[in-house]
This record gives sequence, C-alpha cells and structure tokens, in this order.
Amino acid sequence: MLKIGVLVSGGGTNLQAVIDAIEAGKINAEIVTVVSSKKDAYALERAKKYNIETLWISKKQFDSFEKYEDTLIEHFKSRNVGLIIFAGFMIVLSGRFTDAFKNKIINIHPSLIPSFCGSGFYGIKVHKAALEKGVKVTGATVHFVASGADTGPIIIQKAVEVKDGDTPEILQKRVMEQAEWIILPEAVDLFAKGKLVVENNIVRRVD
Ligand code: GRF
Repeated sequence: MLKIGVLVSGGGTNLQAVIDAIEAGKINAEIVTVVSSKKDAYALERAKKYNIETLWISKKQFDSFEKYEDTLIEHFKSRNVGLIIFAGFMIVLSGRFTDAFKNKIINIHPSLIPSFCGSGFYGIKVHKAALEKGVKVTGATVHFVASGADTGPIIIQKAVEVKDGDTPEILQKRVMEQAEWIILPEAVDLFAKGKLVVENNIVRRVD
C-alpha cells in the first residue's frame, strides 16, 4: 500500500480532507508521517487523533537551509514514503528536496495556476490579489512539485465563482470547500492507483 508523508504549516483542513477520504475507503493509502514547519500548527492535532506520527521540523533548528532539507529528505526516506503531500505547507523547498522525490510530491495551491502563483502568493494573499484584479472565476490547482514555487506539472484544477461582496476570507473558504478539499483527495487517489503519467511536463491520466 502507498505510504504518504505530509508537510503542513497551518490548520490542516486539506490534510483532514485526505484523512477523511482514506478513512472512507476512497483512497487506498496510509499517511505514515505528518511534519509541520510550525510547532503549534493545528494540523498536528488532527494527525494525532488518527495516531499518525507527527513531527515539528523548523528551518530555524538548522544553521543552513541545506541541512534543513537534508533532514526532511532523510526523514521521508526512512519512512519509505511513495508520495509527499504539501498540504498548506508554506516553505518553498529547493531542487535539493524536489529532485529527491521527482514527480512524487504534490501541492495544493488556491488559484488557477498560472494566475496568482509563485513567489509571494500564499495563503490569504492569493485571494486578496484575485479580488484586487477583479477576476470573476478563481479556483484551486493540484500539481506535482518541481523546484521553484508553484511550477510543476498540473494534475487537476477546479474553478470557483467569485461573488460580489467577497472578502479574501469569504473567497478563501469557498475555494477550500468547493475546490481544494475535493481535488486534493482526487489527485491522491489517481496517484495511488498509478493513473498519472508525466510526459514533457504534462500530466496525462491513464486507465
Ligand atoms: C490552503 O488554502 C492551501 O491551499 C494554502 O494554504 C491554505 C492552508 O489550509 N496553500 P490548510 O492548512 O490545509 O487548512
């Protein structure tokens, strides 16, 4: 069975969506470890409820970013993970990490990439920028992770309507409910079933 490692930084609602799908038998996989960049991330509490191993590994604990990344690489290798999910993980890792798990890392981003993505576009800032631009449709994207923020091959996207009177917080909630919590488990399921093939940076689904 596929072993999954998850990297988080915050509330962990996307982690919860994957846990729920596994618990419901919709994904044939096991989350074996959840690593947070923040000590008090609520995502860790969510994992503990399901007896999933939790760790806090902060880049501040190391004298170089390379050592931080090497520790993460060693940790996930030691747990034999076949997939790593960035579920609301706020740190951009370099090629050192992403090359160690090529096409085995997926990220959820709360916009339709290539809009509102890359350096500086994270968390609530993404939705603030979308509202400032006046887009009428936004959404979420699940993609494989390559070095560089939000750059890897796209797996699934789902559009979400922007409504009059939306605040960044209201829009963030709608994007989570109508897109993120649906497409992240979907992508994990496709990966677990071996249905995702990457060719020339394009993801193709095979049956
Ligand atoms: C989500 O919108 C995710 O896409 C973004 O940060 C938020 C974190 O949510 N990168 P959670 O920690 O999964 O609740």
